[in-house]
Amino acid sequence: MSEEHGNLIKNTKQLSIAVFASFFIPLVIIFLLIVYVSSGKKTNPDTSEKATLALIKPVGQLNFRDASAPREAQSGEAVYKAVCASCHNSGAAGAPKFAVASTWGGRIGTGFDALYASVMKGKGAMPARGGASPADVSDYEIARAVVYLANSAGGKFAEPKAPAEKPAAAPAK
Ligand code: HEC
Repeated sequence: MSEEHGNLIKNTKQLSIAVFASFFIPLVIIFLLIVYVSSGKKTNPDTSEKATLALIKPVGQLNFRDASAPREAQSGEAVYKAVCASCHNSGAAGAPKFAVASTWGGRIGTGFDALYASVMKGKGAMPARGGASPADVSDYEIARAVVYLANSAGGKFAEPKAPAEKPAAAPAK
């Protein structure tokens, strides 16, 4: 259209129509694009919310406990699933994988104490305590998770002893 202006515009009326159209048509196009884009958004939030929930799940699961209930130690498996699985299931950032002995190299041979110390202090890409807060996951529960994880990959570590100095906690198991 625009390349024909030279031929088509012969008076001010045509000029004003051309000027009007050159503003108005892009505006209509922009408006239609906005409608198109935001209508796409309306159908999506459901899935993206689900995806977000799935992403934050490992962290979110830590909050399910009833704070007023007597605190019972979580099993190694429960802690593993809530805190450690996000890295150790996939082997993210070079993490030794759950139940895949070949990814562990000589780690299990270093013994439980060394592995436990690595998790408590953090090692490489692994944050201290695997990123869990001490308020959510006690030292004892971390130890259980270490045993659960290491034993899945061929370790033969005994279940750690429950700490004795916790009067509120029910006797383990
Ligand atoms: C953010 C990811 C991440 C999380 C969460 C995580 N780890 Fe790790 N973990 C790693 C990585 C990466 C390594 C390898 C570190 C290295 O050797 O550089 C590792 C190494 C280990 C090792 C071997 C340590 C050693 O001395 O070689 C153990 C045991 C372990 N993790 C247990 C756990 C446990 C138990 C949890 C949960 C409480 C946990 N990890 C949570 C990433 C993670």
